[in-house]
Amino acid sequence: MNYQALEQQLQSLYNSCSDSDQLLQSICDLLREGVSHYDWVGFYFKNGDKRELLLGPFSGEPTDHTVIPFGKGICGQVALSNENFIVPDVNAQDNYIACSITVKSEIVIPIIKDGDNIGQIDIDSHTIDAFSQADVHLLEGICKKLATIL
Ligand code: SME
Repeated sequence: MNYQALEQQLQSLYNSCSDSDQLLQSICDLLREGVSHYDWVGFYFKNGDKRELLLGPFSGEPTDHTVIPFGKGICGQVALSNENFIVPDVNAQDNYIACSITVKSEIVIPIIKDGDNIGQIDIDSHTIDAFSQADVHLLEGICKKLATIL
């Protein structure tokens, strides 16, 4: 699916889903099915006042990493930096939490609501160096929209 078609499908999800968990799940399923280099798509959210992330809705293989302390792995680093993190080759990262040996690259984009980093979208790919600025644009758009909904 091209990214323009995806944007249209996302728009109909925003318009039709009233339950936020259902919306997040539908976004994960749409992205994983619609983009060939997206092999695992999930959301992590800050756990209240704790300095940790909790796994939310996801699409793909179940992961053991349902709780990630701030600072640990790519996700935990984004929880602190509030910046996008693209990892072209996960094997070149020291601070990385491996979910599967099949994962080769990863992208994490934070969801910033009213200046606070409330969570993130995390995508794994079985392709090395899979993510481009087109992915950043698509995913930033989703995170910006979610910041107005969640
Ligand atoms: N690789 C992530 C952990 C989450 S899994 O990709 C689902 C990280 O290093 O934070």
